[in-house]
Amino acid sequence: MNIFENCQVGKVKLKNRIIRSATHDGLADEDGGPSEELIRKYAFLAQNEVGCIIQGYAIVSPEGASSYPRCLAFYGDSIADKYKKLTNVVHQYGTPIIAQLAHCGRQTSSKVIGVKKIAPSAKRHLFYPDKAEAMTIEDILRVEDAFVEAIVKAKEYGFDGAQIHLAHGYLLHDFVSANGNKRKDEYGKEIFGRCKIVKEILQKTRAIVGDFPIWVKLSATDKRKKGMRISYAIEVCKLLKEYGVDAIEVSCGSVQDGMNTMRSRRMPMDAVFKYREPVASMPKFLNKFCLACAKLINPLLPQPKPLTMFNYDSAMAIKDNVDIDLILVGGVAKLDDMQKAVDSGIGAVSMCRPFICEPNLAKKLKEGKVTQSRCVMCNYCGLVIEKESTKCLLGRIKK
Ligand SMILES: Cc1cc2nc3c(=O)[nH]c(=O)nc-3n(C[C@H](O)[C@H](O)[C@H](O)COP(=O)(O)O)c2cc1C
Ligand code: SF4
Repeated sequence: MNIFENCQVGKVKLKNRIIRSATHDGLADEDGGPSEELIRKYAFLAQNEVGCIIQGYAIVSPEGASSYPRCLAFYGDSIADKYKKLTNVVHQYGTPIIAQLAHCGRQTSSKVIGVKKIAPSAKRHLFYPDKAEAMTIEDILRVEDAFVEAIVKAKEYGFDGAQIHLAHGYLLHDFVSANGNKRKDEYGKEIFGRCKIVKEILQKTRAIVGDFPIWVKLSATDKRKKGMRISYAIEVCKLLKEYGVDAIEVSCGSVQDGMNTMRSRRMPMDAVFKYREPVASMPKFLNKFCLACAKLINPLLPQPKPLTMFNYDSAMAIKDNVDIDLILVGGVAKLDDMQKAVDSGIGAVSMCRPFICEPNLAKKLKEGKVTQSRCVMCNYCGLVIEKESTKCLLGRIKK
């Protein structure tokens, strides 16, 4: 299989096997729809030979909102025309676009969403310390309906498929994982209970949208106690296939893991002290002092390894056990690695930071102008989103 050939993954026809993985761009309008700037950004990606775009996560209901500014939303009456314009513009270049849909669960703050945040179980989050309330059955059914409505809208707005966010510590990851889900009722206890919410979303959705492509992004592993491990993830993937999921993007980590989902040799301390609360708002002298101390200990802080192709082993383990189309994300930056992944039977590779760094990367790779991304995986872009729209800050923050 050639990385640049037309192909079909998860029932979607791709221009090639290089996908832009979902990336929060921080460019939603005041009502949560895509702004003109975001539409231009996606048009540029499409024009420059990306095989498919997975839109940055869009929230399915206000109670699941993100604390990042200008996050996309998939509810409300005024967004339809903006999303239709977005999909139309991207389609002009023959590029498919998938809507990633999410609920933040306890990975947000009650203050931001204006109501008490909810999660499968009443648990604190390391970085969002106000405790979430355990969901009632009514809450669960309401969230299911919000996902169903959003997927139905994705079809109506002209998306080529929807991707359910079951990764990185968001609500559905919390449900599926024994770390976040301590429930003793039918939505917990064991794997079938933990996955019941996903099963019901799929059942209800399929009854309305038929064979509209539905993908999942899954954290196959994380570092949480009793959290996701590959042997368990394989069983989850078997269920996802049974429920009618068309493709799985294999990721890892939870926001609570620190830099695991997007790995870096070192914690980007300058960016942490500039963008992350509460340290960003400390009095200036204290911020400077703490930053200097943090920089001293930074080299001693262990970071997850490996730094490249870090979900490849998970993807291969899933491939060997489950007959479903797979997409590999995480530290993919070299053409050779991309080809290795597809030669091993993985349907496509996806990238996030490399496309933040070089939105025309796919074209440059295709034309043979480069063989790898320029992104140094410093993760400054992963911190800037806490206050501003997403951008590559390489060389722009002093080290
Ligand atoms: C700025 C930024 C925004 C991100 N937004 C999303 C998102 O909206 N949805 C998602 O599933 N993952 C998101 N991620 C994670 C990436 O999609 C990807 O899984 C991770 O960065 C590893 O891939 P990479 O090594 O190609 O960057 C984001 C990562 C970064 C750095
Ligand atoms: S700031 Fe730029 S170089 Fe650093 S990880 Fe993000 S995209 Fe890559």
